[in-house]
Amino acid sequence: MKGQSLTDNIIIRHVLPEEVIDAARIEKSSLSVPWSESELTLFLKNPAGIYLAAFSAGEMAGVCGCYAGAGECQITNIAVLAEYRRRGIAYALISRLLSEAKERGCVKAFLEVAENNIAAIRLYEKIGFKAIGRRPRYYKEADAINMTLEDICIF
Ligand SMILES: CC(C)(COP(=O)(O)OP(=O)(O)OC[C@H]1O[C@@H](n2cnc3c(N)ncnc32)[C@H](O)[C@@H]1OP(=O)(O)O)[C@@H](O)C(=O)NCCC(=O)NCCS
Repeated sequence: MKGQSLTDNIIIRHVLPEEVIDAARIEKSSLSVPWSESELTLFLKNPAGIYLAAFSAGEMAGVCGCYAGAGECQITNIAVLAEYRRRGIAYALISRLLSEAKERGCVKAFLEVAENNIAAIRLYEKIGFKAIGRRPRYYKEADAINMTLEDICIF
């Protein structure tokens, strides 16, 4: 339909305590160090934490989280179920996450990404993150690239 974007039917909102089972399933399907149900339950209670999910026709399709405090946002995890990828869901999730972090007074954002995770690196570059350093062997089989977004104000 004219003017309709790929994410028009996606709803993004905070994950509820009773939804950590679904969130943990997405984390486990996509991340090398997924957060468990109990870790997610604790994180939801952390006042510095923000943890969002994207829903398509009622199904949880992706999740992302960050710590937002002291003017800085540390993005901790983002994952989209394989069948929902390349529809703009991760971009929409991070945009909303940064917007909420900004409302909490954050001006900068940081993250680490494996040097061989091209999909994630391209996603972060599209948002505006720039590589600022490298942590050798941070992951089991890869260096980490440190990326930063200097001005969350664009969101
Ligand atoms: C990385 C990930 C979250 C992207 O999710 P997604 O919903 O498919 O991403 P989007 O559709 O929002 O894509 C936004 C941009 O990211 C980039 N991108 C996403 N997937 C890509 C791929 N496979 N190859 C190259 N670029 C890609 C593109 O620039 C894309 O914009 P475009 O579609 O206009 O070209 C998803 O691939 C995933 O869950 N991967 C496994 C978990 C993971 O690696 N998380 C990151 C840990 S640091």
